[in-house]
Amino acid sequence: MKHFKAIAAMSLNRVIGAGNAIPWHLPEDFKWFKKATMGNVVVMGRKTFESIGKPLPNRKNLVLTRHPQRLIKSHPEIFGGYHEWRGGKFLKRAYQFHFTKLEGKSATDILIFKSLDKLDPAEFPNDIFICGGAEIYAQALPRCSDLYLTLVKREIEGGDAFFPPFEDKFELVEELRDEPEFKILHYRHKNLRQ
Ligand SMILES: NC(=O)c1ccc[n+]([C@@H]2O[C@H](COP(=O)([O-])OP(=O)(O)OC[C@H]3O[C@@H](n4cnc5c(N)ncnc54)[C@H](OP(=O)(O)O)[C@@H]3O)[C@@H](O)[C@H]2O)c1
Repeated sequence: MKHFKAIAAMSLNRVIGAGNAIPWHLPEDFKWFKKATMGNVVVMGRKTFESIGKPLPNRKNLVLTRHPQRLIKSHPEIFGGYHEWRGGKFLKRAYQFHFTKLEGKSATDILIFKSLDKLDPAEFPNDIFICGGAEIYAQALPRCSDLYLTLVKREIEGGDAFFPPFEDKFELVEELRDEPEFKILHYRHKNLRQ
């Protein structure tokens, strides 16, 4: 059975965000995130999507919101540049809106889903990465077979978004990198296998 994968970065005191932004700038970690997710599906909550301000290129961007029309209408600067699809096999299922933009040979897609429950990883040919924020991690982690967690080696004051507890359900399988400012850890769910 196919499951989600999660990718996240948290501080030593579990902060992942402050004021709807990521409170550190680690270009090497961004490079890792880009490499891991490129060509795959990235799933994010509406607040994370708005904080990035545009879809991540050359990936399928799956945005979760309970108010799709509100999201589309409030961001003409994003959605105006995209071609909207209607119909297709997914229409009967969870998502209501599908936008595509062709960039050279590759496409950047935005799919808007109203429900995480109806999202089935098996419907997509490639990996589906849960990319935050806190609300989405909390709901999706029980359905993730793998967690790629960047541990930022500092304490962050004033954080308002936190990574949920996961340690009892996941086990560490590999330390992928250890840098002065962060390490990248690969955890696997104890009961879910890809
Ligand atoms: N460090 C990291 O790795 C990382 C990664 C990503 C984000 N972040 C940070 O995390 C923070 C944002 O996290 P957050 O928890 O505030 O917001 P979020 O998880 O990004 O988005 C929450 C929104 O998602 C929608 N949503 C939630 N559950 C849903 C469901 N089951 N079905 C449909 N829609 C659903 C709702 O949108 P509507 O209100 O529109 O209905 C909700 O308001 C920011 O500070 C961001 O920078 C950090």
